[in-house]
Amino acid sequence: MDDPGQEAAGNREAPERYFEDGLLVIEDGHVIQCGRARDLLGELPDNVLIYPHPDALIVPGFIDTHVHYAQVDVIASYGTQLIDWLHNHTFPVESGFGDRQSCISTAEFFIEELLRNGTTTALVFGTVHPQSVDAFFDVAGARNLRMVCGKVMMDRNAPDDLLDTAQSGYEQSRELIKRWHGKGRLGYAVTPRFAATSTGEQLALAGQLLKENQSVHLHTHLSENRAECKWVGDLFPDRADYLDVYEHYGLLGKRSVFAHGIYLSDREWNRLAESESRLSFCPTSNLFIGSGLFRLESADQYGVPVGLGTDVGGGDSFSILRTINEAYKVQQLQQVNLSPLRSLYLATLGGARVLNLEQQIGNFEKGKEADFIVLDYRATPLLERRLASCRSLADKLFAIQMLGDDRAVRETWIMGVQQSSRH
Ligand code: GUN
Ligand code: ZN
Repeated sequence: MDDPGQEAAGNREAPERYFEDGLLVIEDGHVIQCGRARDLLGELPDNVLIYPHPDALIVPGFIDTHVHYAQVDVIASYGTQLIDWLHNHTFPVESGFGDRQSCISTAEFFIEELLRNGTTTALVFGTVHPQSVDAFFDVAGARNLRMVCGKVMMDRNAPDDLLDTAQSGYEQSRELIKRWHGKGRLGYAVTPRFAATSTGEQLALAGQLLKENQSVHLHTHLSENRAECKWVGDLFPDRADYLDVYEHYGLLGKRSVFAHGIYLSDREWNRLAESESRLSFCPTSNLFIGSGLFRLESADQYGVPVGLGTDVGGGDSFSILRTINEAYKVQQLQQVNLSPLRSLYLATLGGARVLNLEQQIGNFEKGKEADFIVLDYRATPLLERRLASCRSLADKLFAIQMLGDDRAVRETWIMGVQQSSRH
């Protein structure tokens, strides 16, 4: 997919580029050229290695704009909606992340699972324990992945062993930023869990961290569930609405990513747009924990940039293809068509823009980091059969998005090096 230039902050479909028999030329982990094989093959030096990928579509690596690595073992937990789900399933599992070895083994599994599913970059929640973030970055850094992560800040309304204090949360985050932000391909996100588990004092210090470190990200949850919205209203009675809580403490802006945003007022949509804040649309989670239907059309009307998130373990799949499938259905229920090219954009360059990483990743423009995946036209008998009757690229793409999952990701390459393969 090509960069649509002036639509920098928008969600509109990008003009795509597609080569039926294409060549992606990579040197030192970066894209040198992308075009028709017959135009480019003759220009290559003799010693270049060529990897053929028959019956496949090469696209930029997927970008997951909201996921919790510590919730691998929460995935597919039965029977609850957000607040009970947090207390019954999530907090007990996150309590185990004080132990470095658990953190490392979960981070290794999580990253392997991302790569198997074709996700090459993610914006990731750690837990309240700073060592959870050290472990995640150790594992991601060893594999040279472009990843953004942060320690959860949470100083009330959770079990005691999962609480920090306003001051310790600030100091631990500051140390982690120093240690990790900008190290290789790693970036830090200041991560207050959500307004209900932070005091005003803690949110104010999160805002201070953003002021003191202008290139870090802000990552939190917003307006996911009706009971949650009511609770936040009760906890912050002086604020106009949920988003106003975050705005009051200086947490809005173009480096801020808010997961969900289902129950937003016109005022909140306006303020998100004016502040250039971003949203992560997490359809598998919104359906699985029964939260509600994200209004992509409103995001477009107001001009709020959107990416896709799995929100594992609220979401029940690591696969961005499955996420697109559910995103399509969530829009169908609202009489909105989510086109296959738009979905691919949201999963790649759109996600890169949400993370302000569009200079580095998201498409195959010359100079970008060569993170890409090979989608398999023969992944399953059904997919192969369905593709045989597809006429256009859009039809093919849609079939892969609706019928595909991890089985459709044949290979995952990071900066020109293959790191995962189904063979
Ligand atoms: N809101 C606060 N914490 C969480 C979480 O861990 N997952 C989801 N989906 N929503 C939250
Ligand atoms: Zn979440």
